[in-house]
Amino acid sequence: MTGSTATRTEAPLPKPEGLEGVVAASTALSHVFGEEGRLVYRGYDIHELANNASFEEVAYLLWVGHLPTASELTAFQQKLDANRALPEAAIEILRQMPKDAQPMDVLRTGISSVGPLLPDVFTDTPDLDQAMSLSALFPSVLATFFRLRQGLEPVAPKPGHNTAQSYLYQLFGTEPEERHWKPLQTYLILLADHGMNASTFTARVIASTQSDIVSALTGAIGALKGPLHGGAPSKVLDMLNEIGTAENVDPWLTAAFDRGDRLMGFGHRVYKAEDPRADILREMARTASDPDFFELSLQTETRALEMLNERKPGRRLYTNVEFYSAAVLAAVGLPGDMFTPTFAVARAVGWSAHVLEQVSNNRLIRPQSEFVGELGKKYVAIGRPLAVFSSGYADRRGIDPRRFCFFHGIRLNATGRSDVTSPRPQRSNPYQAF
Ligand code: ACO
Repeated sequence: MTGSTATRTEAPLPKPEGLEGVVAASTALSHVFGEEGRLVYRGYDIHELANNASFEEVAYLLWVGHLPTASELTAFQQKLDANRALPEAAIEILRQMPKDAQPMDVLRTGISSVGPLLPDVFTDTPDLDQAMSLSALFPSVLATFFRLRQGLEPVAPKPGHNTAQSYLYQLFGTEPEERHWKPLQTYLILLADHGMNASTFTARVIASTQSDIVSALTGAIGALKGPLHGGAPSKVLDMLNEIGTAENVDPWLTAAFDRGDRLMGFGHRVYKAEDPRADILREMARTASDPDFFELSLQTETRALEMLNERKPGRRLYTNVEFYSAAVLAAVGLPGDMFTPTFAVARAVGWSAHVLEQVSNNRLIRPQSEFVGELGKKYVAIGRPLAVFSSGYADRRGIDPRRFCFFHGIRLNATGRSDVTSPRPQRSNPYQAF
């Protein structure tokens, strides 16, 4: 696909819509094999890691490049323990947040706040220590706000907990059960990194300007929030709750297709086969979630795939990671509005690993755009009292008539049209001009 450029002398630049297929960076961290439906972190298939590793091991793998030895893992866990507590001033900022604020907005604010509050930790040049410290704060920001919005006091993190345990402990204030923290840990592993997705690209763009790691991850949180990226799983939960019963699956899906809605939890820019993470999450949901809810999810998925195939033939739309994330995170005890923020807890590792990779071999990321605007316009000061040009002359000269008080003696409104109902402005009072 090609696009035109501003002047005829410039050669057309390639312009794939939404940057589809564009290689924006080199990475050794992870890769999505879209045709095969395969995801690899640092050479390990995602099934291999999800079935065997801890989230901390995977985080270390992504940051450092190899799985940790026992002593490296111990040192890393100590580092997490030492960095999970939020500065008191950050907790105060979270106290000021409206109780009905979206947790993703609060996460963005909370993470942004730790930059200036911990200037000795988060210096200008991102490094491994900063990546570990900043990632450790994500669960704490969320859990603190989760409690404050219910009128409860924050729970301080407890040394010795892994990330999944610590998050649940700080959220609910009780020792987490294995049947909850284990599925959460697998979820965190599955969501830790995913090639050049939109939020990772955002983090890398920010890092490429030689900005700091807090800025890079704050920007990434904003990119993750949208429903075309990380914002889908709560909408999956809404969809399943609205469907409610097996009999309502077909009528609900038919109405959604007829309205032209997108079905949340289906389709992917890169996967043209089933997302391998969806497969793992489906099996987790089968054992972890409420049996009726799981059955409804399964029936909805089956019919949605059949109808996508009928209504969107050839688009190769399959279940993505978000569909069964909803069932798994609900089973862990999280409300829908905490789903996307919990995705961010996992992805903070991937984002920060990409930031480190970007700065290790940096070049400013600065693409081109195809210019489709006008050229050759002339500046006219606002409020020039009397125009003497004809409208044809103004058009030919690229003059915007809305900049004038009067055009041929007729007062113009904000759209540049004559406004016969308005009184003429008094020359003595300049503020009466519009
Ligand atoms: N439901 C219905 N139709 C869909 C869906 C869907 N979920 N996804 C894509 N399509 C259709 C589009 O309408 C389009 O049809 P058309 O050719 O008739 O116009 C065609 O498939 C191609 O769609 P694009 O928008 O070009 O695909 P793109 O690669 O840009 O979109 C995306 C990928 C955004 C994930 C899309 O599939 C989608 O909106 N899915 C629903 C939201 C969702 O689940 N988001 C989470 C993604 S996973 C993640 O980021 C972690």
